[in-house]
Amino acid sequence: MFRLGHLSDLHLGAVPGLRLRDLISKRLVGYTNWRRNRAHSMIGDTLERLVADLKAQQPEHIAVTGDLTNIAMKEEFENARRWLEALGPPDRVTAIPGNHDAYVPGAHHRYRALWAPWMVGDEAEVVDKALFPFMRRKRHVALIGVSSAVASAPFMATGRVGGEQTVRLMKLLSEAREEGLFRVILIHHPPKLVNARNQWRKLTDGKRFRRAVERCGAELILHGHDHIRMMTAIRGASGIIPVVGVPAASGAPAGGPRAGGYALHEITANGSGYELTVVHRGFAPTGEIVETARVSYSVDRP
Ligand SMILES: [Fe+2]
Ligand SMILES: [Fe+2]
Repeated sequence: MFRLGHLSDLHLGAVPGLRLRDLISKRLVGYTNWRRNRAHSMIGDTLERLVADLKAQQPEHIAVTGDLTNIAMKEEFENARRWLEALGPPDRVTAIPGNHDAYVPGAHHRYRALWAPWMVGDEAEVVDKALFPFMRRKRHVALIGVSSAVASAPFMATGRVGGEQTVRLMKLLSEAREEGLFRVILIHHPPKLVNARNQWRKLTDGKRFRRAVERCGAELILHGHDHIRMMTAIRGASGIIPVVGVPAASGAPAGGPRAGGYALHEITANGSGYELTVVHRGFAPTGEIVETARVSYSVDRP
């Protein structure tokens, strides 16, 4: 059995003071929002407690699906790199960026360089620059990291995969299928809008992404972004593909689907395919970390 931990949306709290030139950029909106909405709920030791709980489950690998920072300042990327180092070595942890990590144009250079060891494929000869999509093979599992992180206008949190990345994604999905691997796609934005009011934060080319996945197949899609525990699905060429969203890992310890939490994906190979069990763990209203949901699927071998 391969146990994969899944954390997202840490929004690491150390937002430094803004410099004057930041006040004229989108960062002002982000900083004001962070102060108003997040500072009170996303501080304290909730993230540390969740990570300790996750590590106690002894996952073989951990996936982090973006939004490590808030407003993509240099100090936040450095802080997030230290957090990644503490979470685990690059062969045990895979990360992708979220829209907050690409908050302003040009920010992507920072994570591509600073977080590269956790964001490159098996074939990468030099580990100094993240390129998407990338694929990592871990026993019977293929982890495919996609970036939907793009800078968007103030008050927007949209994402985009892009045509070129989609073509490469299809190639990786086909390769992994030929190898009989259990394909896990990591993407920050949910591939399909669940709530129509969230147009301003959707994946703008979600239809193209879904069509690619429907055509080439995948066994599991993991995302963050909506800060809520979510289980949806896409109908692929060879069956249903579970789509699992986790709440913010530094969310309030208050209970309910938005409380801070993470997921564990247990992938077991059997004779004809795979058995997948998704376990959500997160904060109960009492502040304890408990199992909050569990669902099992049978998956045919790709
Ligand atoms: Fe987020
Ligand atoms: Fe996000």
